[in-house]
Amino acid sequence: MLVPLPILDTECLILRPIITSDAKDIFEYAKDFQITKFVPWYPHKTIDDTNQFVNKIIKGYEEKKSGPWAIVYKANNKVIGTIGFDQNRKRENISESSVNFGYCLSRAYWGQGLIVEASLITIEYLFNSTDIIEVRAFVQVGNKQSERVLEKLGFKKDPTIRKKEISKGQEIELECWILSKSFFSF
Ligand SMILES: CC(C)(COP(=O)(O)OP(=O)(O)OC[C@H]1O[C@@H](n2cnc3c(N)ncnc32)[C@H](O)[C@@H]1OP(=O)(O)O)[C@@H](O)C(=O)NCCC(=O)NCCS
Repeated sequence: MLVPLPILDTECLILRPIITSDAKDIFEYAKDFQITKFVPWYPHKTIDDTNQFVNKIIKGYEEKKSGPWAIVYKANNKVIGTIGFDQNRKRENISESSVNFGYCLSRAYWGQGLIVEASLITIEYLFNSTDIIEVRAFVQVGNKQSERVLEKLGFKKDPTIRKKEISKGQEIELECWILSKSFFSF
């Protein structure tokens, strides 16, 4: 339902499907250990890691699974992050009308509200153009920066949903933040 991804345009950003040649820009930030502190993947060691990541996403598009958008910064035409929804319901055991949400932004662009700008347009697209009525974000305990992003977007933490997972060899705790279509301001 989310694939093919449409191209979305905001004041500072263009969101579009990821292409093979994005690997160079993505490697620039995906090698940063501070970016990966609260995500389930290790920093990319070489461009080969990024090529594999990009190829996996493109394969997902081809198989008509959901996949993330590339976040392109208009001022320099660079890919500075990714954002998207995950419809892997079997893994998360969530309903047909709910998706998981995730994002990642190059550290050089933090603190400018760009991920909120990208989130608003993607969530608006999702609620306007699909049957999805709920977006969930699972956030690792301690990721205050991401919690604040979700708060700014109108997500609410659901204290009844918490889960433990093994991530990068360690047990982590995740809290669930939810945004319902009925609470989203278009
Ligand atoms: C999460 C992420 C996208 C946020 O990007 P960002 O550019 O900092 O986001 P914004 O500028 O829109 O907002 C961040 C907010 O968190 C606040 N913040 C930053 N560090 C904080 C901290 N340690 N504690 C509390 N709030 C914090 C900022 O002040 C800002 O709030 P404000 O606008 O009210 O001042 C970025 O940190 C990232 O890519 N992290 C790595 C990947 C990741 O963790 N993804 C999320 C997985 S759930």
